[in-house]
Amino acid sequence: MEEVGRIFGDVGLGRFQLSLSRPVERGDYLSVPDEDHGYVLCQLDDLQRKSDLDLEQAGALTPADETHVHESLLGHAIIIGYRDSQGVVKIPTIPFRPGAHVFRAEETLIARVLGLTHRSNSGAYVGLLRNHNLRVELDINQLVQRHVSVLAKTGGGKSYLLGVLIEELLRHKVTCVIIDPHGEYGSLRTPAERSAAQAKFGVESQGFSHQIVEYSPDVSLNPSAKPLTFSLRHLDPRELLVFMGLTNVKTFLAPLKQIIERVGAANPDYTVADLARAAEMTEGAIADTLHERLLYVDQTKLLGPQGTSLNDLVQKGRATLVNLRGVAPDIQELVVARISSTLFDNRKKGKIPPLFLVIEEAHNFAPQQGQATCSRILKNIASEGRKFGLGLCVVTQRAARIDKSVLSQCNTQLILQVTNPLDLRAIAQSIEGLTPGMTEMIQSLPVGTALVTGGGYHTPLFCEVRPRATRHGGESVQIVGA
Ligand SMILES: Nc1ncnc2c1ncn2[C@@H]1O[C@H](COP(=O)(O)OP(=O)(O)OP(=O)(O)O)[C@@H](O)[C@H]1O
Ligand SMILES: [Mg+2]
Repeated sequence: MEEVGRIFGDVGLGRFQLSLSRPVERGDYLSVPDEDHGYVLCQLDDLQRKSDLDLEQAGALTPADETHVHESLLGHAIIIGYRDSQGVVKIPTIPFRPGAHVFRAEETLIARVLGLTHRSNSGAYVGLLRNHNLRVELDINQLVQRHVSVLAKTGGGKSYLLGVLIEELLRHKVTCVIIDPHGEYGSLRTPAERSAAQAKFGVESQGFSHQIVEYSPDVSLNPSAKPLTFSLRHLDPRELLVFMGLTNVKTFLAPLKQIIERVGAANPDYTVADLARAAEMTEGAIADTLHERLLYVDQTKLLGPQGTSLNDLVQKGRATLVNLRGVAPDIQELVVARISSTLFDNRKKGKIPPLFLVIEEAHNFAPQQGQATCSRILKNIASEGRKFGLGLCVVTQRAARIDKSVLSQCNTQLILQVTNPLDLRAIAQSIEGLTPGMTEMIQSLPVGTALVTGGGYHTPLFCEVRPRATRHGGESVQIVGA
C-alpha cells in the first residue's frame, strides 16, 4: 500500500489534517488503520502548500533562492468510515492518533465502504468512480421512489447524463415520460458511433427505437411524432379558460359556460371551432374576447373531440417523449400541467404502471418566483408522488430559479459543473453531507464528471459519466468551421 502522509495537529472525529509526502488530488480516497476496526476510509477535502516564506522575502526572491524555500503540503481529510459486521457504515468513536500513517485507499476498501456493488437487477450504470475502475450504479427503486435532480450550468452535460440514465431505465424496462422542450431525446432511437471511450467504460452502442414513443402538439415541425391532443369534453370550462390564456375567471367563466351548454346541447361531439362560431354570433365585448381566444386555441390543434388516449401515451417499459419543440411557452406549460395531472390521477388509481416523469428545463415549469400553470401539480408530485410510484426527475441550469420545495424533495442529485454563486448556494442548501471542498470542486468539474448524492449511496461521490450507447441529441452547434 502506498503511504501518502501522516496525521498531525488536533484530530477530530469527522476530519483531520495530514502532512502529505506524496501528491494526492482533492477528492482522492485515503485510508487510516484503526486498532479496532481495520482500515477506515477517508477522503482528501482540501490541500494547502505551506511555506516559511514571508511577504518581504518573497519580494526579494532571486531565481537562485527559489530552491531554498522550505515548503510542505498540508491536507484536510474527512472521515467516511468503515463497514461493521452488520454492513452499516460507521465512523470510529475515538479520534485517530496524531502521527498515524495515511495510505492511498485500496479499491476493495473504497468499494466496500461506499457500497459500489454490482446491482444487476436494480442498478442504473451511470459511470465510473473518478480515477477508479469501479462502477457507479444508482439504485433504480430509489430513483423512482425518491425523485432525482440533474443540475449544471448550460453546456455542463445535463442532457447527456440524462440520456445515460434513460438508456439504463429502458434497459430495465422502467416506464418513462419525458417532457422534452427541445426535441433532443428522439436520438435515443439511434445507436452512437463506436468510440474508444465506450471500450474503457464497457459500453456497447445500442438503439432503443422499439421502446420510444413520441408525441408532439406540433407534428409539422416534429414529423417523427404522433399528434398530442387533449379531449375537449373532458376539460371543464375553468380548464378551457386556462388553455385560452384568460385568467379573469369572474368575467369569462359564466359566459363561456353558457356557450358550451348551448353548443353541447345541439352536438355532443362539438369542437373548439364550433365554440368559436357560437361566440362570434354572441353580442358584446366579452363574447368578442372569447371568440378571439377560442380561435387561438383552435389553431394550436391541442383540443380535439377524442384526445390522445392514456394507454397510447403511457406504455409499460417504454419511454414517451413529449416533444415540445416549436411550441409557445404558455402552451408548453398547459401541456405539462395537463399531462402531469393526468399521470398523477391515473397512477393513484393504479390505471398506469409506476413511472418516471422527467422534466427538462424544469425552472420554466416549477419556477421559484412567479407561477407557471403547472407549478402546483409538480409540487404535489414532488411531495406525494413517491407514495404512488410516480418518480419525478427535474433538470435545470438554474438551481436557484427552480421551486425550493421541489428541489429539496429530490433525494438523488446529479450535479455537473455549476459556477453561478446563487445556484451553488441553492445546491449547498438542498444537499446533506456536502463539504466546503466539494462545493468548491463543483465549480471546476470537467465536462463529463458529476457529483452524485443519494441514489442508494450514503456519501456524495464523484463519477465520470459513461459514454452514451445512443446518439446524443443536444450537440452544441458549431458556429465557425467544422
Ligand atoms: N459525459 C460526456 N462525455 C462526452 N461529452 C459530453 C459529456 N457530457 C456532455 N458532453 C458534451 O458536452 C456538450 C454539452 O452537453 P449537454 O447537451 O448535455 O449540456 P446541457 O447541460 O444539457 O446544456 P443545456 O443547458 O444547454 O441544455 C455536448 O456537445 C455533449 O456532447
Ligand atoms: Mg440540455
